[in-house]
Amino acid sequence: MDETARATILPADERAIRAAAAHLRAGRLVAFPTETVYGLGADATDDRAVAAIFEAKGRPRFNPLIVHLPDMAAAETLVRADDRARALAARFWPGALTLVLPRREGCPVSLLCSAGLDSLAVRAPAHPVAQALLRATGRPVAAPSANRSGRVSPTTAAHVAEELGDRVAAILDGGPCALGLESTVLDLTGGQPALLRPGGVTREALEAELGPLRHAEPRGGPLPSPGLLESHYAPALPLRLEAAEAAPGEALLAFGPEVPPITAPMLNLSPSGDLAEAAANLFAHLRALDRPGLRGIAVMPIPETGLGAAINDRLRRAAAPR
Ligand code: TXA
Ligand code: MG
Repeated sequence: MDETARATILPADERAIRAAAAHLRAGRLVAFPTETVYGLGADATDDRAVAAIFEAKGRPRFNPLIVHLPDMAAAETLVRADDRARALAARFWPGALTLVLPRREGCPVSLLCSAGLDSLAVRAPAHPVAQALLRATGRPVAAPSANRSGRVSPTTAAHVAEELGDRVAAILDGGPCALGLESTVLDLTGGQPALLRPGGVTREALEAELGPLRHAEPRGGPLPSPGLLESHYAPALPLRLEAAEAAPGEALLAFGPEVPPITAPMLNLSPSGDLAEAAANLFAHLRALDRPGLRGIAVMPIPETGLGAAINDRLRRAAAPR
């Protein structure tokens, strides 16, 4: 397998999607767009291909992967779904919701995807390129976000090329991700559903369907989702949250119409204070402000409602001690 050259970014037309599907079936890695962030995909039934994902990202082996499928019927060949899972899939799939469910006996997905757990995370992405790729591949596709482990998730094909361009056979370019934040991860293996990671489908929307959710505690207590503990989504510069203004040497990541006067670099997540716009801009703005010569990034407060919960979750992890 020759992956020494930088992968070409392919506009995601029918021909490129067929070529990408052939790469996946041959055990190679392909980066592809979803509505949340770009994924680093591999055939989930191929141990060596899945191992190559961990290797390319520098991801710890105890952190399991999400398996992507076109729909619930395909997911049900791998996991045991109950009525709650079916209702959620009917309401939110394809979309930014990942369901953690018990693996079926004889499930052909590599055990590496489950990282030693007896569960499997499944998601049907909404992006038409992701859908077309999954259908053309005809296999479950394991895909974490297409960044090096611990770093900011990619929301454009160019971000992927910066992060992992020398590690993938191809990068399918489907434009910037509409949502810009990863999926919500919901654990349905126990009695009461547990929110493992806030994301594109809000807690409010899930609770309207399910009743109150258990919130998996990221700090202290047993580790409910291996991805929860780490410092994550981190730019190279330190982040200072809930900032009213930028200190000397800091860039400002602003939110809303009232921005302090500033001479340093400044980007506004949403001048009108719209949380969906802020989510879509979050990772690209963090990347753009992460420049040498600055001391840090000051981040203005973001409301904790709706998508704001997931935005603040990412910001807190990006600001966590490394
Ligand atoms: O939006 C997304 O979810 C993107 C796109 C590409 O689909 N993918 C993504 O994957 O964000 P990743 O690997 O960056 O995050 C997966 C999260 C991690 O926090 C992981 O620990 C958790 O899902 N996870 C995966 N399988 C799990 C399982 N069986 N039990 C508990 N948590 C699981
Ligand atoms: Mg990730």
